[in-house]
Amino acid sequence: MGMCLLNRYRDFLPITSATPLITIGEANTPLVRSRKLEQETGCSELYFKLESCNPTGSFKDRGMVMAVAKALESKSRAIMCASTGNTSASAAAFGARCGLATYVLIPKGNIALGKLAQALVYGARVISIDGNFDQALSIVRALTQKHPITLVNSLNPFRIEGQKTAAFEIVDALGEAPDYVFIPVGNAGNITAYWKGFGQYKQAGKSRKMPKMMGFQAAGAAPIVLGKPVSQPRTIATAIRIGNPASWQGALAARDESGGVIDSVTDEEILAAYKLLASKEGVFGEPASAAGVAGLIKCAQRKLDLSGKKVVCIITGNGLKDPDTALQSGQPLLEVPADLAAVEQAMGC
Ligand code: F0G
Repeated sequence: MGMCLLNRYRDFLPITSATPLITIGEANTPLVRSRKLEQETGCSELYFKLESCNPTGSFKDRGMVMAVAKALESKSRAIMCASTGNTSASAAAFGARCGLATYVLIPKGNIALGKLAQALVYGARVISIDGNFDQALSIVRALTQKHPITLVNSLNPFRIEGQKTAAFEIVDALGEAPDYVFIPVGNAGNITAYWKGFGQYKQAGKSRKMPKMMGFQAAGAAPIVLGKPVSQPRTIATAIRIGNPASWQGALAARDESGGVIDSVTDEEILAAYKLLASKEGVFGEPASAAGVAGLIKCAQRKLDLSGKKVVCIITGNGLKDPDTALQSGQPLLEVPADLAAVEQAMGC
């Protein structure tokens, strides 16, 4: 279907005759069957939902297209968000496309290089604060109350509306909801959105069941697991380096209503899953995306019986966004003289 996201799922979205059907080519992302991890974890069928294939390289484009369309509908001239990098890249892209002034607030030193490059090249005004994401979000909330600027973090309900379409696509592709969804959790908007999407599709008769939602935080940034905010969150997965998630309640509801879990994985587990995904599956997700996969591996190791089950892991963002982590985690680069014998030796022939 060559139709844009807002049009394709318009019956499930808050679209009116005044909503501009903007697009930068978002959504309709591949659902790719696993080759290796499926056997290792004992799933009957395991799929990766490649949200990394969105135009700005993350799932954020789904929610952003809806939020920006509604901002335009209400005649807003400017948008603003706090971000660990992906929301800002997406806001900057749609802001550029639609001629809106775009302001983004990011935590200094804790945003992957590719994401920063994206926001800058799309032409956003990027402001780096000497603080973390949670502090940035509270400043953005105050500023968007004070000035005529639309907040485009997932506190904006239109973000969740757009993001829930990923659940629709999974059901449309499989013909039924999967048994389990493994997903990283940061600010908790995405798990909230998926749960809403699966619920609406079931209600519409598009599926008969609902998946268990299996959310994973990084161990150093696991407020929902600990049951209290974390004032100084830490993890290599900077995208989910969040200590006080805005959609905390939504994540708890997804967990409890689905019979799933919100658990944590260590940075070591995240990096192991990140490398395995790239080197054994050919799927290059960013470290935060690997948190969901690490969660699947952890559950399988703890004897969660997945035989006969269909499982989907959400690959939320593209590994290219974080070249520093990739260069530190991959194979060593071999440098040799421009000489046949030297190259042969490096090849190990
Ligand atoms: N994966 C990636 C790649 C992300 O960028 C994020 C969140 C998540 C997972 C977690 O999703 O917040 O809905 O629970 N990134 C936000 C940002 C915080 O600013 O880009 P969530």
